[in-house]
Amino acid sequence: MRKPIIAGNWKMNNTVKDTEALLTELQPLVKDAKCDVVVCVPFTDIVRAVELCKGTNIHVGAQNVAWADKGAFTGEISAAMLVEAGAEYVVLGHSERRQYFGETDETVNKRLTQAIRNGLKPILCVGETLAEREGNKTEGVLQVQLAGAFKDVEAKQAADVVIAYEPVWAIGTGKTATSAQAEETIAFIRSEIAKLYDRQTADAIRIQYGGSMNPSNASELMAQPDIDGGLIGGASLKAADFAKVVNF
Ligand code: 13P
Repeated sequence: MRKPIIAGNWKMNNTVKDTEALLTELQPLVKDAKCDVVVCVPFTDIVRAVELCKGTNIHVGAQNVAWADKGAFTGEISAAMLVEAGAEYVVLGHSERRQYFGETDETVNKRLTQAIRNGLKPILCVGETLAEREGNKTEGVLQVQLAGAFKDVEAKQAADVVIAYEPVWAIGTGKTATSAQAEETIAFIRSEIAKLYDRQTADAIRIQYGGSMNPSNASELMAQPDIDGGLIGGASLKAADFAKVVNF
């Protein structure tokens, strides 16, 4: 029932010029994709990316959004700015934001509700660190992250959020969770959504895997019943590699 969604998270890579080259190369390679295809690009690339992807099956997203409408928040980008620039999706709560920029479950929740209020589709990232996994704390960590992020979010809105399960130890390390580990944890996340909301919402919500996903492991991960897509970092920076993941 759930349509798969493969999203590239470019992180802090690609100038406008690089964006033009990458998207021009990518378009013909993904035009027959059976999944939703998204590229989440740096703020400065959004307008050009949207222009280039008009009339194609590639959707454009941002990598964060402010929780306030406007005002004295130096360095932040508002939802209205993203919407007017043409962004449809927004990555929220990425572990790099949590680790380097002080993002907490509370700020993620404020950004998530702001995104929803403004019609942006959130890609909410959750995941445990290596120490947490080795300390058998994975489920507890995910429970807290999910309950925090979805506070005051109604079931109908929650069903449209995309969750990205990104074990922090698998990001940029070349160390992928095995498909069994990813499936088990993503099934757990779905059961938590059923607890926070109901079965219908849990069945509708799309949950991606993220963390060193690439052309060689994508099809095995995507074959798991609870894995509905991927959030791709490094492998989204090369058109041929990202296309292979999209065409899993
Ligand atoms: P990598 O695919 O480079 O491991 O990054 C994953 C990620 O953090 C996507 O948001």
